[in-house]
Amino acid sequence: MSRVLITSAIPYINGIKHLGNLVGSMLPADLYARYRRGRGDEVLFLCATDEHGTPAEIAAQKAGKPVAEYCAEMWQTQKSLSDGFLLSFDKFGRSSSPQNHALTQHFAAKLHDAGLIEERTETQVYSNADGRFLPDRYIEGTCPNCGYDKARGDQCENCTKQLDPVDLIEPRSAISGSTDLEVRETKHLYLLQSKMRDELRSWIDTREDWPVLTTSIAKKWLDDGDGLQDRGITRDLEWGVPVRRGDADWPGMEGKVFYVWFDAPIEYIACANEWTAERGMPDADWQRWWRTDHGADDVRYVQFMGKDNVPFHTLSFPVTIMGANSTGEDWKLVDYIKSFNYLNYDGGQFSTSQGRGVFMDQALSILPADYWRWYLLRNAPENGDSEFTWETFQAASNRDLADVLGNFVSRVTKFCRSKFDETVPEGGTYGPEEEAVIADLTTRVAEYTRLMDAIEIRKAAAELRAIWVVGNEYLQRTAPWSAFKEDPDRAAAIIRLSLNLIRLYGILSQPFIPDAADAMLKAMRTDAAWPNDVPQALSALPAGHAFDVPENLFAKITDDQREDWSTRFSGTRT
Ligand code: MF3
Ligand code: ZN
Repeated sequence: MSRVLITSAIPYINGIKHLGNLVGSMLPADLYARYRRGRGDEVLFLCATDEHGTPAEIAAQKAGKPVAEYCAEMWQTQKSLSDGFLLSFDKFGRSSSPQNHALTQHFAAKLHDAGLIEERTETQVYSNADGRFLPDRYIEGTCPNCGYDKARGDQCENCTKQLDPVDLIEPRSAISGSTDLEVRETKHLYLLQSKMRDELRSWIDTREDWPVLTTSIAKKWLDDGDGLQDRGITRDLEWGVPVRRGDADWPGMEGKVFYVWFDAPIEYIACANEWTAERGMPDADWQRWWRTDHGADDVRYVQFMGKDNVPFHTLSFPVTIMGANSTGEDWKLVDYIKSFNYLNYDGGQFSTSQGRGVFMDQALSILPADYWRWYLLRNAPENGDSEFTWETFQAASNRDLADVLGNFVSRVTKFCRSKFDETVPEGGTYGPEEEAVIADLTTRVAEYTRLMDAIEIRKAAAELRAIWVVGNEYLQRTAPWSAFKEDPDRAAAIIRLSLNLIRLYGILSQPFIPDAADAMLKAMRTDAAWPNDVPQALSALPAGHAFDVPENLFAKITDDQREDWSTRFSGTRT
């Protein structure tokens, strides 16, 4: 048994997430967590809300609520929606937790001890019209790197370059649009990332098995030199982790908070501590996942995120970890980073600020999680951006889920009930047809396992679908309903194998479509042990084993529904 630590990029608190956010980190992370658990590994799967920074303050302002109250409510909303999508986090934490406050201040102290923090007087943009300092992402302008005219002060969405607001050409306030901005002096802490450049480079250069998307973004900013500019890690805001050096005051930094991108990844660690605190477990129980000197050296740590998050996870957060480790601590570094391109919506982009696309609450109000999970994962934007359209959604659901899988389960169980009983029938023997199916599935399950190990999501989905098709075609070919008339024993043997196929499908499908998979396993009254030996797994349900005919697993999406939804979600959300 191995131990696997899995984190998903933690979603911003400032609103309900859309399907693009979901498929860019949380959903694939859940797929992998479920798969590893299915294989019998010990898994700790963590996610949280990212609660600090100006987006939270502004969202709260818009909602007319104190920011702490807004965050508490929105955490609950996001938590319920993640439950709705069957995201199996061991803990869905909050970056505003006391644990994260303490750990963030701890890391800052360690980085200070390591000589990696410097105080600098910097100039910051103050908006006269808004009466406040404008944090980075609330200044918009033209990217000096690629010329994109809606670049934000912290990062250009178009070319992923990390920016400082003063770099922007023709800056304006994203809150009011005002260009009446002035630059004022203020003191901030800087993380001297550039000092870690060689260490980071040799680390990245030796990550040979990482996805190209991840390493290419990391190397781009490493080679460019710009990505490793020293970063300001404090802000003049009220809401956030107060700047302290561990337990001590930090002279000159009173009233300031850490930058949201400094404390957010530390929440990955704090979340494990929230998990143990909630259960009254000792600190050793989270440290064995996060401290290599406390047993985490045999943990494999896998992160999931969208491509815009990659620089922070390949450069900035590792500086925090490596820096603290240079003072003699032993924090776990990530072993594998799976990153994603963007999912687009019907010819444009999903957009939270513009309310464009389908949001998690809306999706669940239309259809249960499995439909969305299957479609989104089978089209995961792994090797390029992918596109959500209602036509492909309808087609994928109807063909894969209803016609192939659902239909197989329904035909087999109903036929068995009508001709035999609600028990696995006895009689007959397996012949060449069955041997061929077993051999084919042995190969395919090995391939599926390999693809899931490699987190090749689209290919794994295609293989899983092919595995379902094997059953359907077998049934078509052997036609037990005709065989029954001549030779009931022959039909019994076919159905016996088919019922075992349902069990196999339940186990293999669980990471993608957990509700349907559970329904299948429950109907077969069976466990979910991973089929390491396919021939053996296909005789797990012996003759005489009782089962239940399940409800239909999937309904077809009608053309009327599709048209209705595509009109309903064509505009922007109000
Ligand atoms: N909130 C960020 C986003 O949605 C992700 C933060 S990931 C973490 O893009 F590493 F900072 F935790
Ligand atoms: Zn750019």
